[in-house]
Amino acid sequence: MEGERSGRVVCVTGGSGFVGSWLVMRLLDQGYSVNTTVRSHPAENQRDLSYLTSLPGATERLKNFTADLSNPDSFNAAVDGCIGVFHVATPVDFQDKEPEQAVTKRSIDGALGILKACLNAKTVKRVVYTSSASAVVFGSGNDVEEVDESFWSDIDYIKAKISYGGSYMVSKTLTEKAVIEFSEKYGLDVVTVMPSFVVGPFICPKLPGSEMAYLDVDRNELIGHPFSRRQANTLDTVGMYISLESPKIYRNSGVSNTHA
Ligand SMILES: NC(=O)c1ccc[n+]([C@@H]2O[C@H](COP(=O)([O-])OP(=O)(O)OC[C@H]3O[C@@H](n4cnc5c(N)ncnc54)[C@H](OP(=O)(O)O)[C@@H]3O)[C@@H](O)[C@H]2O)c1
Repeated sequence: MEGERSGRVVCVTGGSGFVGSWLVMRLLDQGYSVNTTVRSHPAENQRDLSYLTSLPGATERLKNFTADLSNPDSFNAAVDGCIGVFHVATPVDFQDKEPEQAVTKRSIDGALGILKACLNAKTVKRVVYTSSASAVVFGSGNDVEEVDESFWSDIDYIKAKISYGGSYMVSKTLTEKAVIEFSEKYGLDVVTVMPSFVVGPFICPKLPGSEMAYLDVDRNELIGHPFSRRQANTLDTVGMYISLESPKIYRNSGVSNTHA
């Protein structure tokens, strides 16, 4: 498999994070060459990315690029020459430290900047965009056991009812809508994946936000909500992504009822 895919370059945005780093590992495993983007953190002189650079295959096939969603053009270099782009990076702030409008703007501007880079590159065959079950289950889907790709979360419902992670959920819903609208307008092949709470093994040094939220029983009002009863294991979640070269599925939910 490695031989078949050598020379196939893909981009993973947000490779430093929980899902992104696992995805980088899997793609390297599968023989892809991977361009990943990380943010520069001025406070940290040198960011320790050894958990990525020491992965099998990384020395030969992993390149790190610095990019920030606040500067959408900063992703151009990482996307250039890729056959596929996995957009994973997003502001994850369940404590709502920033106003929702700022989070949403950064998320949408960054995502659309990445899609524009994909169009300009002329080599990108498919974009796999990371949405979230939170873009689907709040509002119209709130009381039903099954949802499909026709469901969207209701922004007014989230704003009125959900304080824990509300800005994240609004931003995920509006960003996925903007991504789909852009892809339809410009004929770009985009698949969206919608993990629910991802729990399970991780290789990044930070305790993942979703695992922290899951443990935050005192403040997380979503514990007990159908949304948080459906968890996706890291491995299943990343499995959903590897649909890069398979027939097109439009919106892919990794929701499962099983614990990791
Ligand atoms: N984990 C879940 O349960 C879950 C469920 C549904 C959907 N998702 C989606 O999966 C994706 C990854 O989430 P995760 O759980 O892996 O979260 P994470 O560990 O916090 O990773 C988020 C990634 O985005 C990067 N990022 C944040 N703000 C950025 C900015 N302004 N510019 C560039 N990069 C930025 C982070 O970089 P730094 O390392 O510099 O912070 C990190 O690499 C997100 O799109 C999220 O919405 C996750």
